[in-house]
Amino acid sequence: MKSDNSRDMKQLAVVGCGLVGRRHIAAIEQTEGVRVCAIIDPDSAIKQLASDKDCSYFADIDEMLSAMKPDGIIIATPTNMHVIQGIKCVKAGVPTLVEKPLSHSLEEGKKLVEAAEKHNVTLLVGHHRRHNPIISKVKELISNGEIGEVRALHCTCWFYKPDSYFENAPWRTKKGAGPISVNLAHDIDLMRYLCGEVVQVQAQKTLARRGYQNEDVASAVLGFANGAIGTVTVSDSIVSPWSWEFTAQEYPVYPYADESSLLIGGSEGAISIPDIKIWKHEKQRDWWTPIISRKADITKSDPLINQISHFIKIIDEKEESIVSGREGLRTLAVVDAIQRSADNQQTLVVNHESHATNIEVSTDFEHFTTIKPTTEERIIEDAV
Ligand SMILES: NC(=O)c1ccc[n+]([C@@H]2O[C@H](COP(=O)([O-])OP(=O)(O)OC[C@H]3O[C@@H](n4cnc5c(N)ncnc54)[C@H](O)[C@@H]3O)[C@@H](O)[C@H]2O)c1
Repeated sequence: MKSDNSRDMKQLAVVGCGLVGRRHIAAIEQTEGVRVCAIIDPDSAIKQLASDKDCSYFADIDEMLSAMKPDGIIIATPTNMHVIQGIKCVKAGVPTLVEKPLSHSLEEGKKLVEAAEKHNVTLLVGHHRRHNPIISKVKELISNGEIGEVRALHCTCWFYKPDSYFENAPWRTKKGAGPISVNLAHDIDLMRYLCGEVVQVQAQKTLARRGYQNEDVASAVLGFANGAIGTVTVSDSIVSPWSWEFTAQEYPVYPYADESSLLIGGSEGAISIPDIKIWKHEKQRDWWTPIISRKADITKSDPLINQISHFIKIIDEKEESIVSGREGLRTLAVVDAIQRSADNQQTLVVNHESHATNIEVSTDFEHFTTIKPTTEERIIEDAV
């Protein structure tokens, strides 16, 4: 049972009290030494929730910031509000956990990161899976050379979101809030965390059959700086068990499927995630000899609670942000590159005769601004 001496507790304000904002509140309630001091949401129904939680209610972030200075702020509003609200928080000098993706646009995201640096305030971007012990274990296994040199990664992020998911929050149907941004961002962040920087991107997408302004299926091939190649597909309109959501048991609202969603292949072995099965040949590396798996042991814990504990240590300056603003920006740069590459390819057709399928991407991963066909022969014409 959590002790409740509120005077000594860290005071956190939660901005945006929808799906994920409520999960943050629940995580705070289960974490020692911290409490929710304010909830900010223009939805007046949230006032009652604030009263139930015995904390202040504000309809607007400016009202909150002029009334109090919390120890930390969590921004869990629709993505296109993250930057404008985040800048207000860092200007007020308050460490801020901003939900992923960092921003709806790379350029805007940079403004938030630069403002945080200017005001010397730490950002933590809500890529909470990095706080999952499953991921810590896999990172340790890879670093210890358990599977040798990582050569390839394959990630599947497929599920079916019901119509009500979009009807209840219409921002989810608007440009920039599709599954590349909302869902794949998590997987891209994990792939970067486990395998290093992404330097090349080729992508395709199909527009949502349900008529929303975004894709409902997308796929990308990623080139990593260390030479590994990654493939990812995402869809919010495929019925399947192969997603982190269904397989990692992070959140009980998702049914559990005993499957994996990310495969990492190396020169000495392979790992499936989140079940952490390590596959190796019994004797020599040889596809004609038996291959067996063993499961790595971990003690499970809730990454959202771990994220809050880490946020408190950031506030106390005992730890550096595991997902700093710059890190969130780098993940966003890859997500942005996927969007742009997919947009280009909708109007390009691969010229199989010249075998010209490469699209060059700047290796300056913070910018990815040069996604374009590089030579005449690579240009394929406008969609035929
Ligand atoms: N880390 C995760 O696993 C995870 C999961 C879901 C969503 N997210 C991210 O969290 C963010 C929110 O997503 P969601 O699904 O919870 O959205 P949601 O629509 O369920 O909730 C958003 C809330 O923000 C409130 N709001 C709107 N304008 C506001 C304003 N100006 N000030 C304060 N509150 C305002 C809305 O009333 C609503 O209650 C998105 O960026 C999304 O990508 C992260």
